[in-house]
Amino acid sequence: MMVDWFYVVAGVVVVGQVVLGCCCLCSAALVIATLAVLRFVVIPAECDATLWFYEKFGHPVEKLKGQVVWITGASSGIGAALAVRLAKAGVRLVISARSTQGLEEVKRLCVATGGVKDEDVLVLSLDMTHYHLHQSSFDTVISHFGQLDILVCNAGRSQRASWVDIDTEVDKALFDVNVFSLISLSRIAVRYFFQRGRGHVAVTSSTAGKLGAPQSASYTASKHALHGYFETLRTEHGGGGVNISMICPGPVKSGLFTRCFTDKLDKKIEKERKDQRMISSERCAELFAITLANTLSEVWISLQPVLSFYYIHQYFPAIMKWVMAMIPKEFIMKLRDGHNVMQSQVKQEKAE
Ligand SMILES: NC(=O)c1ccc[n+]([C@@H]2O[C@H](COP(=O)([O-])OP(=O)(O)OC[C@H]3O[C@@H](n4cnc5c(N)ncnc54)[C@H](OP(=O)(O)O)[C@@H]3O)[C@@H](O)[C@H]2O)c1
Repeated sequence: MMVDWFYVVAGVVVVGQVVLGCCCLCSAALVIATLAVLRFVVIPAECDATLWFYEKFGHPVEKLKGQVVWITGASSGIGAALAVRLAKAGVRLVISARSTQGLEEVKRLCVATGGVKDEDVLVLSLDMTHYHLHQSSFDTVISHFGQLDILVCNAGRSQRASWVDIDTEVDKALFDVNVFSLISLSRIAVRYFFQRGRGHVAVTSSTAGKLGAPQSASYTASKHALHGYFETLRTEHGGGGVNISMICPGPVKSGLFTRCFTDKLDKKIEKERKDQRMISSERCAELFAITLANTLSEVWISLQPVLSFYYIHQYFPAIMKWVMAMIPKEFIMKLRDGHNVMQSQVKQEKAE
């Protein structure tokens, strides 16, 4: 359950004030404001409180040593960093993406950690949209390692485009990479996990899987669809021995932006993303690996203020809609693109 101590304590303060009948509102507001400054300004937050707790007190990543983990989208960014982190912990790996060259470099980095040997990392080039190769790729994994413990569905592409301008062909292509291909491969793995009596599917969602990310309608819809598919698997087969982890990162430094879909299939993104206020792929991968080691069902990985948006949206959806309607759209886009909004504000004020 996504519980942040701030909201719990704030709730207790309000209830306490009401029950005790003290001069309620003013003192409650003061305590909550102090807590809010502590939680969101003084203490740097990078993830939800549950994940934070498990990083401090849960199983270490090394618990996964010897297991076989297949990561799709492992040639760069979060997937590549996750492969290296897991290799360091002695996890045997299958790494997939389209770029064989990128994968070979990631394999070299994995072996260089000293946690695994050459034969412990299988480079399996795969375009996820080539559905006809999913079963044979899966068979290759099983014949190489004899088992699969965790499938990490991480391959994906983002988008920047205005809602009204997006061609339906783009919607379809984006869903192909981000949803249908991933579900096709997961179905093969989950059938195997059911037969085996255990297994784990981890899915890289996004803030866009929880909220409506501006200029990314098809991408947002694709990440929401993943929650729909996997929450249904959870309710259909809860307790069946197959764990599901939904990992929802906010802005992360990676190659994602440069490979964005736009509103037309043949149109490339023109802007550059200014990686100012983002979590590094390595830090995201560390928290991702902790999620795997502790089989957490859903995690949020992001800096503030985006992290707070997750909480407000989860617990106060009506307020979130109101807040979103109030905040200028340019500000939301800056947050989305990982700009340091506080710094830009100061610069703007100085210029004035
Ligand atoms: N970076 C962020 O801010 C952020 C935030 C939230 C969620 N995410 C999610 O994190 C995941 C990883 O993204 P990233 O940030 O690490 O970006 P990235 O560096 O661009 O990595 C994307 C990976 O997906 C692979 N890929 C793309 N299309 C593919 C296809 N058709 N078949 C197989 N592999 C394919 C890419 O490899 P090839 O090009 O070699 O195939 C690459 O390895 C994505 O699902 C993304 O939506 C990212």
